[in-house]
Amino acid sequence: KVAEDQLVIDAGQKHFGPIACNTCGMVYAAANLEDEAQHVQYHQRLLEGIRYVGWKKERVITEFWDGKIIMVSPDDPKYALKKAEEVRELVDSELGFQQVSLRCPSQTRTYMFVSNEKKIVGCLIAEPIREAYRVLAEPPSPHSVHREPLERHRAWRCSTEPEPAICGISRIWVFALMRRKAIASRLVDSVRSSFMYGSVLTTEEIAFSDPTPDGKLFASTYCKV
Ligand code: ACO
Repeated sequence: KVAEDQLVIDAGQKHFGPIACNTCGMVYAAANLEDEAQHVQYHQRLLEGIRYVGWKKERVITEFWDGKIIMVSPDDPKYALKKAEEVRELVDSELGFQQVSLRCPSQTRTYMFVSNEKKIVGCLIAEPIREAYRVLAEPPSPHSVHREPLERHRAWRCSTEPEPAICGISRIWVFALMRRKAIASRLVDSVRSSFMYGSVLTTEEIAFSDPTPDGKLFASTYCKV
């Protein structure tokens, strides 16, 4: 990563300053050996992680013009569970989760958006829950003129009163170069229509665990709060 105040020496190198890889999306400083090495490592790991070879038995939840959503549940064959695990590790490392285990692996479902190019470009991990705590609106700050629209990297204030809920979204992730194409929205739609047999969950019945700033912006738009 290149910090905003990072200085770079202009020694006449071909690429100067940060560049974004148009395959993996990573922004790095070309001509910086350490950065380039990190990019190569990330690039390979990402491409391997999101590669989807296709399975004879796959559970397609929804099909779209630009891909499909498949779901892996704990009693699926080993190859499917292995892929779900591989994608989860990728997502966890992007979210900065270190060894955050699943609360209830035997009931966890992994939804994956597979593009027509056979790449897993979105992932949602859902688990059954009984209750959730509503995120509260931020009180106006005396320094509000200096604040960013939604401050980055902060903890949200939550209600102390639990409310009943059915499905917890423990992780949601979309490949950086495919964001704002409603992939996350379609993943959540698919969860809502398939999580509980015979009924479609309302947005009140789903909850996002510990959202990142991006996750909070997405969730509040999706749930229209
Ligand atoms: N900033 C502002 N609004 C946003 C953002 C954002 N970063 N992301 C989504 N929205 C809002 C927009 O209104 C958007 O509609 P529009 O594009 O027509 O304006 C609407 O939500 C729907 O967005 P989608 O296109 O469905 O969302 P996307 O596919 O881009 O995925 C996600 C959103 C999953 C948050 C993606 O940005 C991402 O992977 N971020 C990095 C990982 C992350 O932070 N995940 C959330 C962790 S929290 C958790 O896992 C419970």
